[in-house]
Amino acid sequence: MSARAEGGCTGNDGEAFMNVRVTPKLLEELLESAQEASGRAYAPFSNFCVGAAVLTSDGRVFLGCNVENSSYGLTNCAERTAIFTAIAEGAITAERDLVAVAVVNKDGVACSPCGACRQVIYEFGPEALVLFRAKDLTITQVKAEELLPEGFRLRS
Ligand code: THU
Repeated sequence: MSARAEGGCTGNDGEAFMNVRVTPKLLEELLESAQEASGRAYAPFSNFCVGAAVLTSDGRVFLGCNVENSSYGLTNCAERTAIFTAIAEGAITAERDLVAVAVVNKDGVACSPCGACRQVIYEFGPEALVLFRAKDLTITQVKAEELLPEGFRLRS
């Protein structure tokens, strides 16, 4: 697959990715789940509602939304909410990386993961597929290690 696939979900041609078969249909469903999660965002300060859905290697999907705070710096992005939930549920561990992350803005505005979220995604899955709406509003699908080249990770 090319470094960046744009304009639709290509999956990995049905190849097994860890224990889960990442089909284009599954990735479309992940985007739909992220859209659903965006409706639960707590974003009274920015009014920028974001939803994320992460797919783990056991085939489960965990949702997240951004959660803002009156003390702005405490805001948690949708991607991190979803990843931390998956960890708390035991679906992502030191041995089992995450497989895919979909991110959407509720109103269809471009929303690629911020730098902090790229680092967190990289920690739990350098090879994870990341799907988001790019500046031209097409869906971009890219590996975490391509979004964050030379990413930092203490474990190998
Ligand atoms: N936001 C996310 O949830 N994910 C991102 O990757 C980009 C930004 C949220 C944080 C904040 O609540 C709002 O979008 C505006 O920055």
